[in-house]
Amino acid sequence: MDILQLLSLLVLLSVAVLFIQYYKRRWPVANFPPGPTGWPFIGTIHSIRNEVFIRTIADKLIPRYGNVFSLMQDVPLLIVTGYDAINKVLQSNKGFDFASRKEPMYLLQLHNPNKLGVFLADYSERWQQQRTFAHMTLRGFGFGKTSFEGKITDEVSLLSSHLKDLARVPQDLSTPIYSGVASVMCDTFLGCHYDHNDIEFQHILHILESSFEIYGSKKSVLLDFVPISRPFLKQHAQKIIDMAEEWYAFLMTKISEHQKSFVTDSEPRDFIDCYLAKSLEEPDIFTIEDLKYVLSDLFLGSTETTVNTLKFALLYMVMNPDVQEKVHQESMRVVGPSRLPCLEDRDKLPYTAATIYEIQRLSSVSAYIVRCATVDTTLDGYSIPRGTNVICNTWSLHHDPNIWPDPERFDPSRHLNDKGEMVMSPHVLNFGAGRRVCMGEALAKMELFLFFSSLMHRFKFELPPGREPPSLDSAPGFTGSPFPFEVIIEERL
Ligand code: HEM
Repeated sequence: MDILQLLSLLVLLSVAVLFIQYYKRRWPVANFPPGPTGWPFIGTIHSIRNEVFIRTIADKLIPRYGNVFSLMQDVPLLIVTGYDAINKVLQSNKGFDFASRKEPMYLLQLHNPNKLGVFLADYSERWQQQRTFAHMTLRGFGFGKTSFEGKITDEVSLLSSHLKDLARVPQDLSTPIYSGVASVMCDTFLGCHYDHNDIEFQHILHILESSFEIYGSKKSVLLDFVPISRPFLKQHAQKIIDMAEEWYAFLMTKISEHQKSFVTDSEPRDFIDCYLAKSLEEPDIFTIEDLKYVLSDLFLGSTETTVNTLKFALLYMVMNPDVQEKVHQESMRVVGPSRLPCLEDRDKLPYTAATIYEIQRLSSVSAYIVRCATVDTTLDGYSIPRGTNVICNTWSLHHDPNIWPDPERFDPSRHLNDKGEMVMSPHVLNFGAGRRVCMGEALAKMELFLFFSSLMHRFKFELPPGREPPSLDSAPGFTGSPFPFEVIIEERL
């Protein structure tokens, strides 16, 4: 055998070993859910043709492999579709079996290597302690109760006066909506009452918006899922690190300002004060480092999702002027022209509530829920080893023709019963369910109701004449958001 033959044999052997290793990782146990086999190094990344990948995958692969199938990225990943299978993931064994988040997370390792905080933390006692404390504290502030209402209505009034000045000129309302929602969060979490033109406030908005843009980009998806891409995307990874450092430095400045002015046993001014008081009681669990990540989760979890839902709300209203008119008329009848709707009116405005619900169903801003198996378990008869990542495809649940007749039709009345009351459906899972259900659901619902009902009460929104109707699809990104669009605003009152 000459040297060339020997080299060829070595190359062949190496390729064979690579393939064997890959297939062993691809199929970690017998009876693992089916799916495309994929290739070493790139797995099945080629199934992800664009960022709205869940939809693309669902359309292509469900007919072939069923409601529970697997893909190969750096580790095997399950895509779960349909109410029964999703419900099992979120609720089986009291929600314990799939109560962790995605593993391993390259992007996460870049900025939160110890998986601190709430959103991305593994299922653990520490996560439970942080979550319980944050949840109780926010409830104490009055999330979901009327005592919190004032903070939101102040922002609604500011937004309304701003819109009044913009009347009859085509406008993209993304920035005013973002400012209004972010301002409520700054007040609650940091105790900062910013003017919207304040440089620090603008800086926060800039970081929040660019974080979502960069995390939702194609390059970030590649970095996270395809290890072989990482040497080629070092600059992008550095951008993520720089942005995270800037964000955490900002949060640390706010925490140190609070530490300097913190007075034990006095009334807490905001979330940071409550956490500092708790850290005096249990310093090993409630550390400043944990606080930084919890704060970040609250901010990032609350702004983009709420803002994008409100942007979709506006879009669906200009595309469905008859529904917009009905919402306005309901408000006029129940609330009257002399004031704006308040939380007490919520139950008396069922058509408005059903409209918000329909907007959430169709827009599905959190198109999927990411979980990870905490133990070796089973799903739909398949064996699932501990550590398997699972994506619950809530977008297709919200668009399933077997559940929603004519699913793409915008029809709030599908959520009303014979008595005209709004009825929630178990098939709408915008906030997830089970042990990791959204911690801010009550606040989000309050904000959506107050912002939306007040805008519909006071203004009429229309498409600028002669323009192409905007797309109702989601733009690529971390959470679904409409493509940019403009509206004409007319003050009604
Ligand atoms: C329309 C607005 C919102 C939507 C659509 C939304 C959606 C979601 C979803 C789908 C999850 C994952 C649930 C699961 O795994 O079962 C989640 C988790 C979470 N959300 Fe929200 N959310 C919204 C608003 C908020 C707000 C206002 C806050 C903050 C106060 C917040 C904080 C969180 C946190 C901290 C988690 C992680 C919970 C955990 O892992 O234990 N969210 N959210």
